[in-house]
Amino acid sequence: MIIYKAKDYQDLSRKAANIISAQVIMKPDCVLGLATGSSPVGTYKQLIEWYEKGDLDFSSVTSINLDEYKGLGPENDQSYRYFMNTNLFDHINIDKTRTFVPNGLETDSDKACADYDKIIDTSGGIDLQLLGLGHNGHIGFNEPADAFADGTHCVDLTESTIEANTRFFACEADVPRQAYTMGIRNIMQAKKVLVVVSGRDKAEILKKVVCGPITPQVPASVLQLHKDAVIIADEEAMALMD
Ligand code: F6R
Repeated sequence: MIIYKAKDYQDLSRKAANIISAQVIMKPDCVLGLATGSSPVGTYKQLIEWYEKGDLDFSSVTSINLDEYKGLGPENDQSYRYFMNTNLFDHINIDKTRTFVPNGLETDSDKACADYDKIIDTSGGIDLQLLGLGHNGHIGFNEPADAFADGTHCVDLTESTIEANTRFFACEADVPRQAYTMGIRNIMQAKKVLVVVSGRDKAEILKKVVCGPITPQVPASVLQLHKDAVIIADEEAMALMD
């Protein structure tokens, strides 16, 4: 595990975008695993800026997102598909037919998850997986549990995650209670993992992830076992690390 300390969110975003750019330049037809949430927004903005300058070409890239709320379709402005379109895909030359997000409108969870695992497997594997970190240590929507989840699965969101995500909805009752998410196996099989962590409110969990025991109660702690995991954290998130 390599940890880079960034000065602030802007510096973190630039550093993360540099790593993603390097991946796209080295392998133009790479498979990027992408995340939603607040953490990667600055990274996506930076990538868009470099694309507009003519420094990046996404025309051969495939993207596979981590997760999607069950029950929300692409037109819903709280869906992760909508987030990805508005925060990244609409602004770069990626072929949208090669951008994948779990199908939130599929009511048959087994089918939705099996279909998504097939997409991941037939893509040839994820070259670089971008992750944010939940306050409870979740990655994707792999919440603290008794065992590490395997492939894509349907999860019941924990109260803390529902509470954290309420900021994006009109009220807590509107936050979906279930989501489809890649499992720990899908994430760990990515060739490279890049985690972006920002803010003092992530300091406690970041310390547990990096210095604590590897346990499904802190899902991101499993990244200690990944052979190419990079964490970029800003000074506030690093506040409790030496
Ligand atoms: C998003 C995702 C989540 C977030 C995490 C952190 O696709 O899978 O695991 O990365 O909840 O969210 P933010 O970045 O909003 O703090």
